[in-house]
Amino acid sequence: KSISLKYRLRSRRSRPLRLMTSYTERCLTPRKRRWQRETEGLVLGVYEKEKEDDTRLLPTVDVDFASFASSGPPLKKGKSRIFYGLHEDFPSVVVVGLGKNSPGFCSKENWYNCKENIRAAVSVGCRALQDLEVPLVEVDPCGDPQAAAEGAVLGLFEYDEFKKKKTFAVKTQLHGSSDTTAWERGVLYGEGQNLARRLMEAPANHVTPAFFADTIEQKLAPFSDKVIIHKRPKSWIEEQQMGAFLSVSKGSEEPPVFLEIHYNGNAESSQPPLVLVGKGITFDSGGISLKPSSGMEAMRADMGGAATVCSSIVTAAALKLPVNIIGLAPLCENMPSGKANKPGDVVKAKNGKTIQVDNTDAEGRLILADALCYAHTFNPKAIVNAATLTGAMDVALGSAATGVFTNSDWLWKQLFKASIVTGDRVWRMPLFQHYTKQVTDSQLADLNNIGKYSRSGGPCTAAAFLGEFVTAPHWAHLDMAGVMSNKDEIPYLRKGMSGRPTRTLVEFAAGLCTEP
Ligand code: BES
Ligand code: ZN
Ligand code: ZN
Repeated sequence: KSISLKYRLRSRRSRPLRLMTSYTERCLTPRKRRWQRETEGLVLGVYEKEKEDDTRLLPTVDVDFASFASSGPPLKKGKSRIFYGLHEDFPSVVVVGLGKNSPGFCSKENWYNCKENIRAAVSVGCRALQDLEVPLVEVDPCGDPQAAAEGAVLGLFEYDEFKKKKTFAVKTQLHGSSDTTAWERGVLYGEGQNLARRLMEAPANHVTPAFFADTIEQKLAPFSDKVIIHKRPKSWIEEQQMGAFLSVSKGSEEPPVFLEIHYNGNAESSQPPLVLVGKGITFDSGGISLKPSSGMEAMRADMGGAATVCSSIVTAAALKLPVNIIGLAPLCENMPSGKANKPGDVVKAKNGKTIQVDNTDAEGRLILADALCYAHTFNPKAIVNAATLTGAMDVALGSAATGVFTNSDWLWKQLFKASIVTGDRVWRMPLFQHYTKQVTDSQLADLNNIGKYSRSGGPCTAAAFLGEFVTAPHWAHLDMAGVMSNKDEIPYLRKGMSGRPTRTLVEFAAGLCTEP
């Protein structure tokens, strides 16, 4: 066996790399293709050469083979090169470029270049083998097994539930015997984000409030010893006097659900919980203030706050994080009908404040107002809410980062720290009184659901509105409208709903466990 491998290596070494790759591609007969499909592939990371004779390699692979695989013209960051029949255990090997072997934390980007490079490169490698229909792929940890696993799991995901032609299923596993715990953690982080992507991408006629709640219940079922779940019906919402939430839900035929999940990861201590609140509009037509039809289909993902928050709790449970978390998701549709909110209507929130609804499309803040009031009843250590709240958030930051509005420097630090690790970034935004004044000046009520200079500072007036329902000292509002979907900005996510910032929420919750 080893003789034939050596022979292959020697005989091909002298050929230019480019030629050899296409030569091997041309030589694949249909039988060989079948053979190759039935066996394993390997994704192998290599650093960019800094000098001509500098071939720095990752230590996990047999040296003779690895040095061969990284020979030839330089392989640029995020690019891949496929080799067939090079290694007896791996008929298909994809070598992927990791960029330079130095960049760690980058203070300009607020992330670790090395982690982002690994996520991107591994995803490219895994997709190349997915295209070749290789069912089992071993992944070089590239020095960071968690980032490699995230790249693999996130990169391979594609939403194909309603298509006859399914994306080829690839099973990935860690190559070598390095830190399997970190690899498995990366798999769970990736799968958590994929759960949010699936819920967000799925059509709104399938993901109704009831379906959403059932899905989360099902996902939490394996952890039933530490989880309590309530799917609160309309009657409960009425008892709670959540008039703002009810005013939005009543425009639709689809009944609302207030989803409440308790994950008791630290039951022994009477540790106050982290309360996560997510906007759960399963479809946002705008209501009577109807949205333009172009692009309206994306509003099936307007439950992205609920999806990322609930997926992060599912992930926290899978990771057995020793922390108590409560997840709250007001779930309903925002539709125009004879029963819908009308511009100028006045509704009353759970805390007794009245709200003039001048724009029925600013519905997220209405349902969150009641959910935030309810969050305070749990004596929380912190309240973090996530919402696809304003289109203007995308205007402000695009898809680079989730906007964070918070009254707490401590909470900001925790979220920021988490986002640096995950590469799913956050950026702090202001909660000035300047904006509060613009929502408390209302003709008919205590508050108006839109700012009086309607277009100016849209994300900030929305945040200031939510702030009127918060008395807790540690609260953060995450406006994730800009990161809701991915075209090609994040290289390890295919086009579609992104599931961001699920991993940052998980990392944030994990960080609280080590907090003094
Ligand atoms: N769900 C939308 C915000 C949104 C838009 C999220 C595009 C993701 C992509 C929200 O309910 C909304 O419609 N907000 C209005 C607020 C305005 C009426 C003050 C907006 O952004 O236009
Ligand atoms: Zn809206
Ligand atoms: Zn909305």
